Amino acid sequence: MSNYHIKHLEEYFQVYRKSVREPENFWEEIAEEHFVWRKKWDKVLEWDFTKPEVKWFQGAQLNITENCIDRHLATRADKTAILFEPNNPDEKAEQITYRQLHQRVNQFANVLKENRIQKGDRVCIYVPMIPELAVATLACARIGAIHSVVFAGFSASALATRINDADCKMVITADGSFRGSKTIDLKGIVDEALENCTCVETVLVAKRINSEINMKEGRDQWLQPLLDNASTECEAETMNAEDPLFILYTSGSTGMPKGMVHTTAGYMVYSAYTFKNAFQYKENDVYWCTADIGWITGHSYIVYGPLANGATTVMFEGVPSYPDFGRFWQIVEKHKINQFYTAPTAIRALAKHGTGLVDKYDLTSLKVLGSVGEPINEEAWHWYNDNVGKKKSPIIDTWWQTETGGMMITPIPYVTPTKPTYATLPFIGIQPCLMDENGKELEGNQVEGRLCIKHPWPSIARTIWGNHQRYKETYFSAFENKYFTGDGALRDEVGYYRITGRVDDVIIVSGHNLGTAPIEDAINEHPAVAESAIVGFPHDIKGSALYGYVILKDTGESRNHDNLRKEINQAISEKIGPIAKLDKIQFSEGLPKTRSGKIMRRILRKIASNEMDNLGDTSTLLNPEVVQNIIDNRL
Ligand code: PRX
Repeated sequence: MSNYHIKHLEEYFQVYRKSVREPENFWEEIAEEHFVWRKKWDKVLEWDFTKPEVKWFQGAQLNITENCIDRHLATRADKTAILFEPNNPDEKAEQITYRQLHQRVNQFANVLKENRIQKGDRVCIYVPMIPELAVATLACARIGAIHSVVFAGFSASALATRINDADCKMVITADGSFRGSKTIDLKGIVDEALENCTCVETVLVAKRINSEINMKEGRDQWLQPLLDNASTECEAETMNAEDPLFILYTSGSTGMPKGMVHTTAGYMVYSAYTFKNAFQYKENDVYWCTADIGWITGHSYIVYGPLANGATTVMFEGVPSYPDFGRFWQIVEKHKINQFYTAPTAIRALAKHGTGLVDKYDLTSLKVLGSVGEPINEEAWHWYNDNVGKKKSPIIDTWWQTETGGMMITPIPYVTPTKPTYATLPFIGIQPCLMDENGKELEGNQVEGRLCIKHPWPSIARTIWGNHQRYKETYFSAFENKYFTGDGALRDEVGYYRITGRVDDVIIVSGHNLGTAPIEDAINEHPAVAESAIVGFPHDIKGSALYGYVILKDTGESRNHDNLRKEINQAISEKIGPIAKLDKIQFSEGLPKTRSGKIMRRILRKIASNEMDNLGDTSTLLNPEVVQNIIDNRL
């Protein structure tokens, strides 16, 4: 019998030891006993981090949708698979049973096929948090098309970049989306993006807000009539274990976003196994993750992980502040949520509005609280623990990444004793280590260094779409034979891990990863701008906010700085999306640079964070005199 469900600490240690000593036997047992395969594997694992290459369950054949849907029909056909809670609290929630999900996914899969989508084709899904988003995702998986879900808050330019990078043949979208009291013209954004994408042949449009939109003859089609005419039976495509399941873009510290490629079997096994344990999910629980399916959290822990376990997973269309800041708690009460998974930025925003709106609702159904996306600060942790969990529901602070596919370091609730701001212990099968700057592993406890992983786990991303070299350079070159996460961490006296934050040029704002380079590129395109540098600084709700240092071209003309600030933020909004807007923009005469011409962001970061007494040695700079000028004009 495999240890699919861990229930106490001793068992955790025992299973963890086994997973590390005999990873292949361990994962083979989990895979064998808890999933359906059309053909079993010939080899459990083959790996080489120097190439880098990782292959799990080679030779196996399966379809992930059979694991997420079909196999549940025998015992859970009438159980709610997806519970959709609309933006407007007065609109009825929709319960989609496993039987209905099966029919809807099959219909959608048939529509994809009728529109010439085949195994291996890339399909871009730019859909708000409505059931069609989950159904479209699963429909792609059903026929072996590779989905690339793009968060429906990205701008036309960011969408076009992603569509072109993956060479998508089709875009699935909606007329528009509801977001609190606002509507967003999604189809307009798609139209604008597609002016620069020649690869897209077809656009399928779901109707959500009933707005007037432009339909391009020969390219655009309304989705619903096609679904209505499609058969509810669609044979699932046979997929090889290592066939790509999806591409999901994440920001890098330089240039283009990285299209992380996840493959089928390993991703399925790991997302399902982590879901079961990290949430201690039991058969009749109602589970809610507030993320958007446009991020990895939604892929693994709204769609695949929960459905592979036959769970009821909630999809929420709206925002935590609409119609008021009690909305999350109203939903918890209404649907008797048992596991609730959200981001620290949301907790901080809600905490700001006091406890009145939390106390108003009955939250006694809650058993597990989760946190993800950025470090959770002590104050937010306690607020969550005291007011939402009433000190009875353990908080799992789950550390992981788009690249890891599933949770890597996290407490298991009711198993691992929690500690505020600590992600605690590695999940089963995960072998973290801390490295110093010279590439030496830091042994023992009470050490701090760069967080790496020593051994592959089933859901590690296999490559960056179209750029394996970049994958190698980004993740496998900093430290020999190790996956480098880009994060710093410390290990305390009992071996618990605390993530201290990014050590590269990625800044996490409200839980969203933002690379500095694309933002700087957007700013530098402004005709008045000569150069710019972006750093993060502490923000009480967003965690980090963006501070921009901008150098203007010397044209002899005087410019209105407030207008320029607006124009710069407008340019960022158009290029990347409103999430990347700068909170502060300082116009400065120069940027501190090393003698080789590299911007010294460390100094800029300290100035933005008001840590001026701690700037370190600036005398080796090419232009030490600019530092004082920047300090004098600090915002
Ligand atoms: O810096 C870490 C931070 O978010 C990064 C990964 O971002 P992304 O790929 O967008 O995935 C987010 C959702 C899994 C990490 O490198 N991060 C994520 N979770 C935590 C965290 N930092 C501290 N604590 C966490 N629990």
